[in-house]
Amino acid sequence: MWPFVMRRKQLSVLTLGDPRLRLAAQPVENIDDRLQQLINNLLWTAEKANGVGIAAPQVGESLQLFIVASYPNLRYPHAPRMQPTPMINPRIMAHSDEQVIGWEGCLSVPDQRGQVDRWREIEVEYRDLHGHLKRQVFTDFVARIFQHELDHLQGTVFVDHVDDPVTLLTDAEYFAQLDSMPVIAGPSEQA
Ligand code: NI
Repeated sequence: MWPFVMRRKQLSVLTLGDPRLRLAAQPVENIDDRLQQLINNLLWTAEKANGVGIAAPQVGESLQLFIVASYPNLRYPHAPRMQPTPMINPRIMAHSDEQVIGWEGCLSVPDQRGQVDRWREIEVEYRDLHGHLKRQVFTDFVARIFQHELDHLQGTVFVDHVDDPVTLLTDAEYFAQLDSMPVIAGPSEQA
């Protein structure tokens, strides 16, 4: 047993305007106890916030690390329910030509939803908790989460990609209008 694994803490999430959200994150050099603790805290923080993803810079840790935690939701009832997955030093190796527009929200941008174009399919690499190199293909919802989180590692937030600010909605409006929205692509759980 690793006693430190048992401790987990909900971290406070930085919000838009905090300059730390705008930094380029550093590669993870060592998957050590400290990183393991951070991962546990991120997993717990995402779960408590009902997030489908969270990136280390959102809690003030400028490291190339995020969690992807897809589950079925209103807009994406067929989204995979996956074990929340920590991804270390993630990269996109290839992507589809096709982009799809969809709704996004972000734990660092409370009460805002907006439409963003993303690659529909991506081939990615990352290191898992044990340092093993993983190569995977993600499509649709999970691909969107990955691209949203990868942005956080480069100091980019989804609102930067919203071409038409007229599409921005509050959460209340988003849910009020959900049924009448064309099904373009989007989920929009927060990430
Ligand atoms: Ni986000």
